[in-house]
Amino acid sequence: MPASPIETPPPRIFRPPSPPRPEGPLGPLAFLYGMWRNPLSTWSRQSFELPFIQAEGVMGRVAVLNEPAAIKRVLVDNVANYRKDALQLRVLQPGLGHGLLTAEGDEWKAQRRALAPLFTPRLVDSFEPAMVECATWLDERWAPLRDGRRLDVSAEMSRVTLEVLQRTIFPAGLKRDPADFARAMSRYFDSIGQIHPFDAMGLPAWTPRIGKRDTKRELAFFAEAIAAIVGERRASMAREGAAPTRDLLGMLLAARDPQTGEGLGEHEINANILTFIGAGHETTAAALTWSLYLLSQRPEWRREVEVEVDDVLREGLRSPVPVDKLTKTQATFEEALRLYPPAATLSREAIGPDTIGDRAIRAGDTVIVSPWVVQRHKLLWERPDEFLPERFMPGEREKIDRYAYIPFGAGPRVCIGMGFAMREAIILLASILRGHRFDPAPGHKVEPVQRITTRPKGGMPMIARRRVANERA
Ligand code: HEM
Repeated sequence: MPASPIETPPPRIFRPPSPPRPEGPLGPLAFLYGMWRNPLSTWSRQSFELPFIQAEGVMGRVAVLNEPAAIKRVLVDNVANYRKDALQLRVLQPGLGHGLLTAEGDEWKAQRRALAPLFTPRLVDSFEPAMVECATWLDERWAPLRDGRRLDVSAEMSRVTLEVLQRTIFPAGLKRDPADFARAMSRYFDSIGQIHPFDAMGLPAWTPRIGKRDTKRELAFFAEAIAAIVGERRASMAREGAAPTRDLLGMLLAARDPQTGEGLGEHEINANILTFIGAGHETTAAALTWSLYLLSQRPEWRREVEVEVDDVLREGLRSPVPVDKLTKTQATFEEALRLYPPAATLSREAIGPDTIGDRAIRAGDTVIVSPWVVQRHKLLWERPDEFLPERFMPGEREKIDRYAYIPFGAGPRVCIGMGFAMREAIILLASILRGHRFDPAPGHKVEPVQRITTRPKGGMPMIARRRVANERA
């Protein structure tokens, strides 16, 4: 049964844009071309209707899981039988090395154990004042803009989420202009997120990827910044004998393998700095961008959210922010994560054989769990292609199956930054809606594209207008 029967569905139907769905599975050439242009466009109509798909094609044997119980089996119950698949590693490892997102086995365990304390609810609470400062910083950044000004919301969200990282888990800064960092990361994701046919086919790395823009410049930029970040910290620790601090770098430098007592190697430290900058801001930025766009398409719901933030934040935005009372703001963000999951596909490779339901998985099979597909699946959701944040309101949200809604993944490899991202996003969204209203820029076609994150192709130009809290629309 689809989740979330919504009692009073809104009369106006808005279908957020998504690529047209081919009727049936694509042939090999069309598939490879689709992966190159936009992996989201390769999902056929059937993918959103069938509970399970198994096929053999250019990527070998692939199983696509759309049933909550099957998803739970791979991500939780039999997680030891699955590792990150080769295509994912081919795309991510050249830059992210063996950081937390891409490491496996004992290496992953040691890193996760070392970094988990940075993301406990208590530590996230301690980051909240900095998140509030960043929301205020953004408001001030926009203050001089004239009303009706066109703004690329996508770039602005990248910039502010990077600012949040700088003031929380990287308090000593990124040693480069954050605007340059955000641009370099966006260009880097744009390039590596374009799946080259040779990568999809599993050809060795030395075969030239014709047509693919190389990322040497961005990687050199990151390497220099990371060397400066680490170098400065090591120098200050040597000078002052400073105890490791409760920030990402302090924890990376202090991490010890409980068995061997050894610290993380230089490569692991560097890989994690880049991992956390990449995974920690582009994802949240994309979801905030989609939230603002989706709200602009349902003005009556937007008005309700504005009334909520005006009410809850009537004394101004200050820590502690009563995020629990911002239920409509949160429902909006969760619905944006459903329709445009920043991580559109999670993929794994089966280490040994497995049985999922009554289907056989062989060793070496690729298993795909796609939030993009699962979260718009007809068997799991009512009115799956519509923007209906009402389904995430208290009373409705509880009806959603845990494994039908997986924007942050699930199981031991669930996003380590989930609590951080949710807190940050709700504070930023509430503050933005309190001070501004965004409408789509005329003439711009909004099109989602998967480039590591699910982002709007060509950015998200919107028209910004200042709002005065509590003023009627
Ligand atoms: C809306 C924002 C975010 C979304 C939708 C998101 C999504 C995800 C997903 C789906 C995974 C699991 C990938 C898999 O199982 O293959 C993941 C892992 C990860 N995320 Fe996030 N993420 C977000 C924000 C963040 C933030 C703010 C940080 C750090 C500050 C972060 C750091 C990571 C890391 C390091 C991993 C790897 C964890 C591991 O494998 O142990 N993410 N994220």
